[in-house]
Amino acid sequence: MPKLTIVGFGTYDVEDGRRLVKAIKGCGVDIGHRCGGIAKCTTCRVEFSEGEPGQMTRAEYDKLMERELLGEVRLSCQIVCDHDMAVKARMLQSEMGWSDPGPEPEDDVMPEARWFPKEDLVGK
Ligand code: FES
Repeated sequence: MPKLTIVGFGTYDVEDGRRLVKAIKGCGVDIGHRCGGIAKCTTCRVEFSEGEPGQMTRAEYDKLMERELLGEVRLSCQIVCDHDMAVKARMLQSEMGWSDPGPEPEDDVMPEARWFPKEDLVGK
């Protein structure tokens, strides 16, 4: 069972393979997911301090490039917990003043995940 550390909240055991955004929510943290977990809004953004995955979905890469966030944050709706990681959630409902965090993300990574090593995506 992977260990997930959420800066400012604690360290938790999380289900292997769980989407990171859902794992963070499951730990009681009010992370945003305003597009419902489909790599469109970037409100599920997290900063990694440990265990950043070496792979990325095409959808995550394209959105981070578009918003000029590549190298700064990752999208937790596009990551699964398959190893220990430590993250800081950057946009919380309670801090942003939203009435809700957004539609509930599906259990599986959406859009259907096409994974690539990060370095294979750069510049493509
Ligand atoms: S990009 Fe919208 S929830 Fe992840």
